[in-house]
Amino acid sequence: MNPQETTLPEAAALEKPYRLNLANPSEAEPLAAYIEEGFKPEVLSAAEYAVASKFTVAKRRREWVAARLAAKRLLSWRFQQAGLYLKPGEISIENRPDGMPFARLPDGTVLGEGTLSLSHSSGWGAAAVCEPWALVGLDLETVAPRPKSFLETMAHDSEWAPWMQADPVEQTRLWTLKEAVAKLLGTGLSVGFWDIRFPLDGESRRLELHNNAKACWEKLGSPAVHFDSKPDEDRILTVAYAARSER
Ligand SMILES: CC(C)(COP(=O)(O)OP(=O)(O)OC[C@H]1O[C@@H](n2cnc3c(N)ncnc32)[C@H](O)[C@@H]1OP(=O)(O)O)[C@@H](O)C(=O)NCCC(=O)NCCS
Repeated sequence: MNPQETTLPEAAALEKPYRLNLANPSEAEPLAAYIEEGFKPEVLSAAEYAVASKFTVAKRRREWVAARLAAKRLLSWRFQQAGLYLKPGEISIENRPDGMPFARLPDGTVLGEGTLSLSHSSGWGAAAVCEPWALVGLDLETVAPRPKSFLETMAHDSEWAPWMQADPVEQTRLWTLKEAVAKLLGTGLSVGFWDIRFPLDGESRRLELHNNAKACWEKLGSPAVHFDSKPDEDRILTVAYAARSER
């Protein structure tokens, strides 16, 4: 079995094991400003406030807050389904040393390693939460033409076609596919751009993993990975998802 089994168009027909939420810049801006003034918004836990108050770049703080707003909406819904009513500030979204996000509850319970994914772009925050038996990775990027040097570094020959030079949507989509898979696998910065590849196969793409990305995937039990790419005005939101092998 290999991860190439599902091509992008086929995946669209599958039932989705995840939910998405987006927070827009105007939702996060007042909260970020409040933090900058030295106050803790109710919506954040003490641990989150400690992180948010240390950012030196205002844009980073705004986007970080936006992603947490989006994630808390999803997690509140998820917990309510289980009969657990928590205030947003009682859900603490933290990061493992490698960057992977997870949620901590007031009693110390840790949830979400692999089932929660965050992304930010142009002031927006995005979150995906999946079923406990699944894994999810999310990436949100603003559509923009990428410099030639970046494209040459990012895209392997097998992923590139001359028409892509004039297609910023496809350039951005390819990047989000790679980032979404990197987050699903939890590789962080331990993989190169070409270790997660999406070679063109006619009009569709198939996932191909190499080196450490392949090792991470095998460690997860070599699950089939599925994808959705959602263009939203000038942004692309891509979700990678898979069933955990121990299901
Ligand atoms: C950090 C990284 C996961 C994504 O960074 P990015 O695209 O610049 O930023 P995004 O806003 O889309 O995502 C950031 C979020 O990724 C999440 N993240 C970070 N490390 C992660 C990991 N190891 N596993 C899963 N999620 C991770 C975090 O939740 C982070 O948001 P937070 O800091 O607010 O909690 C990482 O892939 C990266 O920096 N890549 C750079 C290039 C690269 O090597 N790509 C490999 C793919 S080919």
